[in-house]
Amino acid sequence: MLIDQYNRVHNYLRISLTDNCNLRCFYCMPEEDYEFTKQASLMQADEIESLAKTFVRLGVNKIRLTGGEPLVRKDAADIILRLSKLPVKLTLTTNGTRLHEFVDLLEEAGVRSLNVSLDTLQAATFQHLTRRDQFQKVMDNIQLLINRNFHVKVNVVVMKGLNDGEINDFIAWTKDTPVHVRFIEFMPFSGNQWTSNQVFTWQQILQVVEQQYSFLPLKNEEHDTAKGYIVPGHTGTFSVISTMSAPFCSSCNRMRLTADGKMKNCLFAEKEMDLLAALRSGEDVTELIKQNIAAKAKELGGQFTADFEHINAETIHNRSMIGIGG
Ligand code: GTP
Ligand code: 5AD
Ligand code: SF4
Repeated sequence: MLIDQYNRVHNYLRISLTDNCNLRCFYCMPEEDYEFTKQASLMQADEIESLAKTFVRLGVNKIRLTGGEPLVRKDAADIILRLSKLPVKLTLTTNGTRLHEFVDLLEEAGVRSLNVSLDTLQAATFQHLTRRDQFQKVMDNIQLLINRNFHVKVNVVVMKGLNDGEINDFIAWTKDTPVHVRFIEFMPFSGNQWTSNQVFTWQQILQVVEQQYSFLPLKNEEHDTAKGYIVPGHTGTFSVISTMSAPFCSSCNRMRLTADGKMKNCLFAEKEMDLLAALRSGEDVTELIKQNIAAKAKELGGQFTADFEHINAETIHNRSMIGIGG
C-alpha cells in the first residue's frame, strides 16, 4: 500500500489521457498560446496500461481518466477497454461534448458514474466561458446519460461575477433531474489569471442557496472532495468542493499521472516524478512511485494555506490545469 508520512493511504489514481481539449475555458487553459504535448511524448495505450497495473499492485482501486478532454484522444476507447479489465472502479471527468459517441462503450466497460464539467445553464455564457458553441450538445448528453442510468455529477466552477448568479438555477435543475451538482471554488493554476476576489466560497454559496431553499447535509464518504447537501423533495443533490476556503487534504487518497507520464502526488505539487521516462528505460517504476508518495506535503502541495485571500498566485509553481488533468 502507498502510505505517506501523514498516514494517508493512496488508492485513487487520476490519469490524464491528453492535454488537448475541444473547448477553450480561460480558467483552465493559459492565455498565451498553449502548445499541446506532441503525440510521441504522451503515454501510449500500452504504457498507460502498464503503469496502471503497477499502481493497482500498489493498492489502487479507483482510476479516473481526465484531460484536457479525455474523449478527444483518438485511442480513448481502446484505453478505456484496457483499463476496464483491471480490478478498479473506472470513471471519467469529461466536458460532455463527445459522450454520445462513447455511451455504449462506457456501458460495456462497466463505467457507472461520470463527472461532467458544466459551469453555466445559459448558452450565451457557455459560449463566453468556453469560446465554443456546444451548450446544447452537453445538455443533451447529460440527459442521455441520465436516460441510460448513469450516476451523473456536474462540476460547476463558481467565479464571482461570471456565474455566481446561477447557483439557484442549478439547484432548481436538481428538483426533477437526478443530477449531482458540485460547486467548485475557483483555484489558482499557471496562466489562469486567478485572483482571490474571484473566489466564491463554500459559505457564500450556501448563503445564496439559503435565500431560496432549505437543505440538509448529506453524510460524506471519507475521501470525498465535496461536502454534500440535499433540498428535501429534490431528486438530485448539490455539494461544494472547498479547496480554497476549507481544504480537505487530511483525508487525501489521490495521485495523478499527467498525459506525458509525470506523477504528481498532489494537485498543487511542484515536483513531478517522470514515470514514463523510467518505464521506457526499464527502470523500477514501483520504487519511484513509493518515493514520490513518501515526499507528499501535508497540505496543498506545501505551496499555500487556506488563508486564500493572501495568496499571490505568481508564487505558486505548478502547471496549468489543462496540463495537470484536474
Ligand atoms: P469523485 O471521484 O467523484 O469524488 O470526483 P473528484 O472530485 O475526485 O474529481 P473531478 O475530476 O470531478 O474533480 C472535481 C473538482 O475537484 C476539480 O476542480 C478538481 O480539481 C477538484 N479535485 C479533484 N481532486 C482533487 C484533489 O485531490 N484535491 C483538490 N484540492 N481538489 C481536487
Ligand atoms: N479551479 C477549480 N476547478 C477547476 N477545473 C478546471 N479548472 C479549475 C480551476 N481553476 C475543474 C473543471 C473540471 C475539473 C476536472 O476541474 O471544471 O470539472
Ligand atoms: Fe490532496 Fe493536494 Fe488535493 Fe490536498 S490539495 S486534497 S493534498 S491533492
